[in-house]
Amino acid sequence: DIAQSFFKPIEKSSPPTPLNGHVKITIVGAGNVGMAIAQTILTQDLVDELVLLDANPEKLRGEVLDLQHAAAFLPRTTILAATDYAATAGSGLCIITAGARQSPGESRLNLMQRNVALFRGIVPPLAKWSPEAVLMVVSNPVDVLTYVAWKLSGFPSNRIIGSGTNLDSSRFRFLIADHLDVNAQDVQAYIVGEHGDSSVALWSSISVGGVPVLSFLERQQIPYELETLEQIRKEVVQSAYEVISLKGYTSWAIGYSVAGLARTILRDQRRIHPVSVLAKGFYGIENGDVFLSLPAQLGRSGVLGVTNVHLTEEESRRLQESAETIMEVQSQLGI
Ligand code: NAI
Ligand code: 2OP
Repeated sequence: DIAQSFFKPIEKSSPPTPLNGHVKITIVGAGNVGMAIAQTILTQDLVDELVLLDANPEKLRGEVLDLQHAAAFLPRTTILAATDYAATAGSGLCIITAGARQSPGESRLNLMQRNVALFRGIVPPLAKWSPEAVLMVVSNPVDVLTYVAWKLSGFPSNRIIGSGTNLDSSRFRFLIADHLDVNAQDVQAYIVGEHGDSSVALWSSISVGGVPVLSFLERQQIPYELETLEQIRKEVVQSAYEVISLKGYTSWAIGYSVAGLARTILRDQRRIHPVSVLAKGFYGIENGDVFLSLPAQLGRSGVLGVTNVHLTEEESRRLQESAETIMEVQSQLGI
């Protein structure tokens, strides 16, 4: 039917996570990113219980107390500090933000060995205590670590998601909106592929208020500057490097990005987000198991399917190259 031609469903799918009326989220890593996600989730009245787990008990206790002190201003939520995974039992969604972050100028892929080592101690106990959870990876390099989380958890691929280019796409929409002087929420535009230097801008997918931008400009014979488009794409890739060189880390935008993904999943919103999913079988990616971002429909059971966006030849080629970049790094993993 029409839904089937619009979405290609994920092949092996496990049933929705039973929440039994009690919605619990665990966030592993109470650093800049974990705390930005936590505070955004709390303002959304999304969960009954929020568990924060970190390797540094003092910092964790301080962060949790600080959040608990906002109780009078927030929807009622139980907030727990945990250093033991038993406290995470029965989570519907587990979000991993623990690990090393980039120094100014350092690439995300450079973090791989350090963060894979941490994941070996994080993913198996999370999976053991919340065997029906959706696992969301945020730590970098996010695509490779999403693959690692899939392998270490033994979960079906529909319940493993990387936050991926949901963030890059927001940066892209912000820059396009700024350029056209419109509201970013009215700009539909996707960045797919690696969350990182080889990410791919889908120019052909951009529309503003339902008007496909490139074909509109062509039809109206309005010349558009390829250089401007390329400049916007480069700015998206440079965004994180710029913020990191200015303030040392990125946090607010990823906080909103992941809280939005959590809402879609826990409230079964079936919205489409560019996130990192097992890409094999989609868009001609056939060789090997690789996670990268594609426009995916999300709901209570995690990834429901991937949309059939029409890619130009150039976009397809760049997506393949992005997949190869990730696979090359992945091949050094030994997992
Ligand atoms: P941070 O240094 O502020 O926080 C990391 C936290 O992880 C610390 O509190 C640390 O104690 C904790 N931790 C370390 N090992 C742990 C373990 N084994 N178990 C539990 N907790 C552990 O770093 P920040 O800025 O929060 O970044 C975290 C990660 O998120 C980095 O890998 C960064 O690159 C990534 N990131 C990803 C984004 C994305 O779009 N996917 C956006 C921004 C950051
Ligand atoms: C970001 O894009 C550093 O991956 C992180 O903000």
